[in-house]
Amino acid sequence: MKRLTNKRILLGITGSVAAYKGADLVRRLRDAGAEVQVVMTRGGAEFITPLTLQALSGRPVFLHHLDTETEAAMGHISLARRADLVLIAPASADFLARLAQGRADDLLATLCLASAGPLAVAPAMNRQMWSQPATQDNLQRLRQRGVHVFGPGSGGQACGETGPGRMLEPQEIVALSAALFDTGLLQGRRVLIDAGPTHEDIDAVRYLSNRSSGKMGFALAEAAVEAGAAVTLVSGPVALPTPERVTRIDVRAAEQMHAAVLDRAQEQDIFIAAAAVSDYRAAQPLPGKAKKQARLTLELVRNPDILRDVTALPRHPFTVGFAAETENVEDYARAKLRDKALDMIVANEVGRGDRGFESDDNELLVLWEGGRKRLPLGPKGRLARELITLIAERYGAEEDTAQDTGPAAGQ
Ligand code: PMT
Repeated sequence: MKRLTNKRILLGITGSVAAYKGADLVRRLRDAGAEVQVVMTRGGAEFITPLTLQALSGRPVFLHHLDTETEAAMGHISLARRADLVLIAPASADFLARLAQGRADDLLATLCLASAGPLAVAPAMNRQMWSQPATQDNLQRLRQRGVHVFGPGSGGQACGETGPGRMLEPQEIVALSAALFDTGLLQGRRVLIDAGPTHEDIDAVRYLSNRSSGKMGFALAEAAVEAGAAVTLVSGPVALPTPERVTRIDVRAAEQMHAAVLDRAQEQDIFIAAAAVSDYRAAQPLPGKAKKQARLTLELVRNPDILRDVTALPRHPFTVGFAAETENVEDYARAKLRDKALDMIVANEVGRGDRGFESDDNELLVLWEGGRKRLPLGPKGRLARELITLIAERYGAEEDTAQDTGPAAGQ
């Protein structure tokens, strides 16, 4: 099983002799399924050539602060925003000091400042440098800010001394990186997710549908698995591979999606409705391939509302809906939260090219009775992990309330 599938790792290589292990690290991260973007400091590039890392990562290596190529291709902010994890390995004493000070004096330091995602460092230095109070103070500050510190190990050093300061071996760094995504927040829970569009037949070859790609729902399935849940994904027609450890049920039309969800909903702990279900279907699909006519009138009838029918079940799961809106996003989403008797609703603005339908990115506003949280624009994979964390918190809070007050109505 590949534990870093679909994870974008921005690997920073700084000036330490352990930089030579960067080659093996890149290979192992990719073997674990990650996409690796290497960024090197000038010091790092003294110890291992960018060309080696470019060949192993399959991507151009970025070196200099705001160079024309970086800016034209992606921009440093974009590099940071797309990463699921920024991993600095090896992290030299000098780089840790700059990180602790919040400096932005080269591309890598700037990226660390610009990234909203998790940051991990694998220190590598001489044992004396490691045990200096200045280095330990820097590490302390970084830990307090939520930076993950991998290692260092102890043993023989390149300088001939023995002691703490050796960078962990690449396989240990890969395992620790993967563990950051396996949160265990939904361990033992059953999560049902619907995703993608539905196809409502007009005749034998034409259908009504929408622009949903399934990316948001599939990212949620992957994040829920990483959180330890047993995940069932009911998917409309999409061109996406099934995330590992997910049970997938493929459907076409809203009525099939309705049946697949309702058949399973009562045995689930959590249901997340990320699908863009067609509100209407043809009252009477035409037989064969309809011939062209000057005018064609199609009668549409309403499809069943899956979410509404799930929350109407006598024993229903903790239910999270989505709201796709082009205006008055929060007001309309709050109305859906109440009308459909949901535990949470995830609003997203659609109709803009850079988020929502089809895009790799999204921006979410999560609402519940008495609360709200905005998850800023970013890749759907990262948003999915943040949303699953929030769902796990709210689900846990409702469970605690239910235990305090006895069996809750409808749960
Ligand atoms: O798939 P992507 O390209 O990644 O795009 C993601 C997305 C924009 C589709 C996703 O983030 C999203 O917003 N999904 C819900 C889209 C939608 O249909 O929203 P709505 O506001 O029309 O519906 C409100 C809720 O009711 C949704 O949870 C929907 O799944 C549910 N619903 C709607 C109709 C219906 N008949 N049954 C339902 O359960």
